[in-house]
Amino acid sequence: MAPDGRVAVCPGSYDPVTNGHLDIIERAARIFERVIVGVVDQPLRKGQTLFTAEERKAFLLQATEKIPNVEIEVFDTLLVDFARKHGARALVKGLRAISDFEYEFEMNQLNRKLADDIESVYLMSSPQYSFLRSSGVRELATFGASIEDLVPDGVAKALHDRLSRENP
Ligand code: PNS
Repeated sequence: MAPDGRVAVCPGSYDPVTNGHLDIIERAARIFERVIVGVVDQPLRKGQTLFTAEERKAFLLQATEKIPNVEIEVFDTLLVDFARKHGARALVKGLRAISDFEYEFEMNQLNRKLADDIESVYLMSSPQYSFLRSSGVRELATFGASIEDLVPDGVAKALHDRLSRENP
């Protein structure tokens, strides 16, 4: 499908989705007419995920159900091929701290080498989420810390259930 400037993809592993991810998705949905949240089936660099792709998708569906122009889809191809399939011209990602920059710079170069007609667009994370990442939330949940204000409804319980089941 030919790239359309009104369509964007918000890609990620979302293992699980955090309130920081949702902030970026909501802001992207205010800029673009159609936002497709692409859930990476098996992230190559991050190893085994805690939740299956369908579970991660279900969390996102529930958390974004009130945003009409957001869709959720799992993909297992190159990101740019997924974007092309949907006619997206932009890949929207959140940028937290300096530590994100190097990784995102590399991804940007890779994706642009593959498809220079698809642009990566970075939204600076809102200050209250600048420390928030899925791995940190998983770590807190593993030790029984409160994570209710960091992830959407349903995810906190699922995290506690999954991690306490794995670490009885
Ligand atoms: O930050 P994340 O969750 O690791 O992001 C995943 C993704 C797909 C956005 C990032 O790995 C990326 O931009 N990859 C580009 C190369 C690619 O298409 N790989 C295939 C999917 S892992």
